[in-house]
Amino acid sequence: MLQTRITELFGIKHPVIQGGMQWVGFAGLVSAVSNAGALGILTALSQPTPEDLVKEIEKTRGMTDQPFGVNLTILPTINPPPYEEYAQAIVGSGVKIVETAGRSPEPFMELFKEYDVKVIHKCTSVRHALKAQAVGVDAITIDGFECAGHPGEDDIPSLVLLPQAVEALDIPVAGCGGFSDGKSLVAALALGGEAIVMGTRFMATKEAGVHQNVKDKMKEADELSTNLMFRTMHNTARVFKNSVSNEVVEIESTGEATFEDVKDLVAGQRGRVVFEEGDLEHGIWSAGISVARVKDIPTCEEMVSRLVADAKNIIDDRLQSVKAS
Ligand SMILES: Cc1cc2nc3c(=O)[nH]c(=O)nc-3n(C[C@H](O)[C@H](O)[C@H](O)COP(=O)(O)O)c2cc1C
Repeated sequence: MLQTRITELFGIKHPVIQGGMQWVGFAGLVSAVSNAGALGILTALSQPTPEDLVKEIEKTRGMTDQPFGVNLTILPTINPPPYEEYAQAIVGSGVKIVETAGRSPEPFMELFKEYDVKVIHKCTSVRHALKAQAVGVDAITIDGFECAGHPGEDDIPSLVLLPQAVEALDIPVAGCGGFSDGKSLVAALALGGEAIVMGTRFMATKEAGVHQNVKDKMKEADELSTNLMFRTMHNTARVFKNSVSNEVVEIESTGEATFEDVKDLVAGQRGRVVFEEGDLEHGIWSAGISVARVKDIPTCEEMVSRLVADAKNIIDDRLQSVKAS
């Protein structure tokens, strides 16, 4: 058993967490992850309304008796979703684990603490992690430059960011961004991390509700298969390299592009069609550099048990033999 403060905090068997994923984090995947002894996380905003989120939570409960959480991504958008209502739906449903992301969870902490919810906040810098610790979150996910989605603007990879965060914070820290297997779990533990959070690797599993074409494409990918877009708008996003993200990067390369110029290309609904219909060039879809490490599409149970077994073998055998020689 690999036990850390994070396995204890969430009551999970393995120090492995599936990060929230828009249009991917539904009951089927989340329950499979939790049944595998890791922590599955539903994505609140993948549900059209807070009422739908309540139903998805109930559905998940019908599929696992293991702990699972809900991701609440609080992004400053022009037409923000009713975040407060989603938060109420989470606590009202009796969910006890929340992953916050996007911006400081401070406005929601009183509510979460009132309902005895454990909060793990995901951020991309030590300064934001310190702020989150100060407002009372229970753990931090520190998201390195390798990650799918929003890596921030500092461009610090997990190899440096994770130990920096661990040394600066008192609360437990999970490494995130670039993790995919037993080797990287051991690396995270060696760097002082107490769990890994993965998105890309969990998307490439049998239970992830994305089209088979997407999973097959991920298997073919290498370490050059992602694009960074929105760099010029200081809102960087790491996405899979395809004709649409190439076009966005090209438009941005003029140095004068505004969001209006790329708005239609990056529409969330177009990305959703990629996942649902498997038309890989229909829109933008998130993927991290760890997509290079996707070699197969296992079940969550197969993937998590292999990952943990590999990690234990590395600790017990490989590292011991290095020490002996
Ligand atoms: C398809 C996809 C959608 C994602 N959507 C969200 C999201 O809505 N909110 C969020 O906090 N993180 C989101 N993420 C980021 C993951 O939770 C996680 O932080 C990231 O994938 C870690 O890096 P990795 O892909 O190298 O494992 C998404 C990731 C993927 C692959």
